[in-house]
Order: sequence, then C-alpha cells, then structure tokens
Amino acid sequence: MNFITELLHADHKRSRFSCGEESLDVFIQKLASQHVKSRAAGVFIAADAGGRVKGYYTLSADSIPAESVPEDFRKKVPRYESLPTTLLGWLAIDLHDQGQGLGELLLIDALHRAYAISEQVGSAAVIVDALNSKAEAFYQQYGFIALPDRGRLFLPMKSVKTLF
Ligand SMILES: CC(C)(COP(=O)(O)OP(=O)(O)OC[C@H]1O[C@@H](n2cnc3c(N)ncnc32)[C@H](O)[C@@H]1OP(=O)(O)O)[C@@H](O)C(=O)NCCC(=O)NCCS
Repeated sequence: MNFITELLHADHKRSRFSCGEESLDVFIQKLASQHVKSRAAGVFIAADAGGRVKGYYTLSADSIPAESVPEDFRKKVPRYESLPTTLLGWLAIDLHDQGQGLGELLLIDALHRAYAISEQVGSAAVIVDALNSKAEAFYQQYGFIALPDRGRLFLPMKSVKTLF
C-alpha cells in the first residue's frame, strides 16, 4: 500500500509549522518526537522536497464505551463494554498549504493507514476529536458521525473500506 506520508524523523523541519491552531503547532514543534519514541502515537508527515512539514496527522490505539455509539452500529459488533478504535488525534496543514486539497489527501491517507492496521490489530472505527465546529464540519463531509461526547466523531471501519 502506498502512502503520501512518512513517520516523523529527525530531518523533518517543523520549528516554523503554523496551522492557525496553537495547540497543534506546539504539538508538532515540541511534543511529537516524544510521542513517537514512547509509541504513544504514530506521527505521519507530508513534507516538501526540502523536508519542510506541510501537514501531519497522528494515529493511536484507543477505545470508546460501546454505549456511546449509535444502536444500529452497536448491533453489528461483538458485545463488549468498550469497542477497540483508532484515534486520529491531530490533523493539521500549514497555513501556506491550506485550501489546496492537502487536508483531504491527508485524511484519506490516515483512513487508509488506519484500515490497513485494523487488519492486524482489531479496530472497529476511527475516532476524531474536532477542535471546533469548523473542524467538525470538515470531518462530517467525509461521513464522520457525531457521538454524544461534544466534538467527538466516528467513522465505522466498514465505511472506511468503502472509501477506497
Ligand atoms: C482543517 C484543515 C486540516 C483542512 O485542510 P486544507 O488543506 O485546508 O483542506 P482541503 O483544501 O483539503 O479542503 C478539503 C475540504 O474541506 C473543506 N475545509 C477546509 N478547511 C475547512 C475547515 N476549517 N472547516 C470546514 N471545512 C473545511 C474545504 O472547503 C474542502 O471542501 P470542498 O472540496 O468541498 O471545497 C486545515 O484547515 C487545518 O489544518 N486547520 C487547523 C487545524 C484543524 O482545525 N485541524 C482539524 C481538527 S484536529
């Protein structure tokens, strides 16, 4: 499977990354390496030829209470108290590169990767935490469904499969 991103490494230039959301800038500039080293998250980068980070996303293993997902989805998965899921924790594009389709490409790349991983380590859905209502609208365009937790959305892995 081909991906347009690669795992964060030392040659990526990220000190000037700025997407308009400070927490996402601080994450990639200062916290991301530690997350990769400790395996708390995979941090995947789209960079230009010189290594400048144009965009990134993170993936982590996660779970959500089964009672928080809609009944019609719950009926189709094994009856556990919590469901194994994949968290798409952060997704951000540098301001220089926004509005050119890169956000969409990275989201598809992330879903592709999450699906591939779920073939070996079970995961019934991809979860995202939208920072604000704009981000929520961005994810809803791709079929993500809002959960009762404010700002949290999910996409069943079965739906992810139909995107490719
Ligand atoms: C949200 C974000 C990732 C979108 O990246 P982008 O490269 O500008 O988006 P694209 O150019 O690929 O646009 C894809 C689609 O999303 C829409 N879109 C873009 N930014 C959006 C936003 N902030 N809110 C809602 N929809 C948005 C576009 O209109 C486009 O839809 P269209 O094809 O129907 O016109 C980017 O604006 C960003 O990094 N924002 C700050 C961080 C953030 O909010 N991250 C998401 C939550 S963690």
